[in-house]
Amino acid sequence: MRLTVIGTGYLGATHAACMAELGHEVVGVDVDAGKVAALAAGRVPFHEPGLAGMVARHTASGRLRFTTSYEEAGAFGQVHFVCVGTPQRRDSDAADLTYVEEAFAGIARQTRKGALLVGKSTVPVGTAARLADTHDVEIAWNPEFLREGYAVEDTLRPDRLVFGVRTGRAERLLRQVYGTVLAGGTPLVVTDFATAELVKTAANSFLATKISFINAMAELCEAAGGDVRELSEALGHDDRIGRSFLRAGVGFGGGCLPKDIRAFAYRAAELGVDLGFLRAVDAINMRRRDRVIELARQLCGDGLLGARVAVLGAAFKPDSDDVRDSPALNVAARLGLAGADVTVYDPEAMDNARKEYPLLGYAMSVEEALRGADLVLHLTEWPQFRELDPGRAASLVHRPLIVDGRGVLDADRWTAAGWRFRALGSPAPVGPVGEDGRG
Ligand code: UDX
Repeated sequence: MRLTVIGTGYLGATHAACMAELGHEVVGVDVDAGKVAALAAGRVPFHEPGLAGMVARHTASGRLRFTTSYEEAGAFGQVHFVCVGTPQRRDSDAADLTYVEEAFAGIARQTRKGALLVGKSTVPVGTAARLADTHDVEIAWNPEFLREGYAVEDTLRPDRLVFGVRTGRAERLLRQVYGTVLAGGTPLVVTDFATAELVKTAANSFLATKISFINAMAELCEAAGGDVRELSEALGHDDRIGRSFLRAGVGFGGGCLPKDIRAFAYRAAELGVDLGFLRAVDAINMRRRDRVIELARQLCGDGLLGARVAVLGAAFKPDSDDVRDSPALNVAARLGLAGADVTVYDPEAMDNARKEYPLLGYAMSVEEALRGADLVLHLTEWPQFRELDPGRAASLVHRPLIVDGRGVLDADRWTAAGWRFRALGSPAPVGPVGEDGRG
């Protein structure tokens, strides 16, 4: 089929490339001429495993093209996917729909007769119906659930597909687009517009709630002398609860979860439904960042002023260079403001981090970040941090003091190599090692 994808960020570029991979002819559209030029030349302007090769292959074969012209896209496509961002508004928790409105208006003016416009962006419930009433074109809603770092896999082999449709024709067209995926056994839910919109925000709210639940348990473990890693493992063995998204730490960030739960609660309140528990989820999440700073303050016995702090991680999660609302960078910046001498290292997110916080110190390697540090904070769980040799790391730092803000480092290995090791949600070591990390 001939498809277009409007918006070529993380979601759109991945969707466009994966649709080409499934055998479709695809045109990607973006208002950013620089991004279009890079993608057209087969280059992906962000880090997403597996995507660069796919874009290079399909742009070279001509099956995947990019343009800034809605006119060209409208003349080409039978089905148009809208994949633009819906950031948080500056003046409230609501989603900013400017880009969605512009994309629908832009393509609706240019479409061929019978074309289908499919929204994939995360929007407040009611948006699809309003767009369908505004524009004289057929609309469907097909939310995406892809995780950064696994975006290609999640698009080609999703857990489920959701089609929000008003006609059998729209459903048939979408079934044709995703024919290969459906033939592979992917479950499909065909529903109305409102439910399709709600699935996405409900899913993200559930995931955020799970993370904040275990982080609240981490607070309790810290107060009561329990260990949240063991608690989480024991909880996760119950199939009804499940193990995933129960890892305590410095909390969730990124371009989706934080803004989606706020926009969801805001929209629910507009509809007269109180989702106040999501404010608690948000607050617990933010408190975890405060806790790392409090720990850093306690552990640097002489105060933060002038303390050399190595921050391992800048991306909001591993396998991504995305620093939007990153807990790691947020903590790094706040320690810097408090007078600490902060050095950040991340395997992929250095350029984005520098753009966001140009005044922080940055190292070219993990060794360089560790050299001379009074305190090490592990805040994004890249595999290379997990695989660090604690003995070698100890030889580089000034004081072997580490806080594991992601709950994945092996406490015994680090302690055996002479480190004073603290993890969020685990009791402070008893005996010679005190809260100030000095013993
Ligand atoms: C999320 C949803 O998972 C995805 O379905 C949706 O389409 C977009 O939003 P993403 O933002 O890529 O995807 O990240 P995700 O893997 O969900 O992680 C979100 C955050 O939660 C990260 O900061 C991660 O470090 C944190 N997290 C995750 C935890 O703190 N603990 C966990 O147990 C799991």
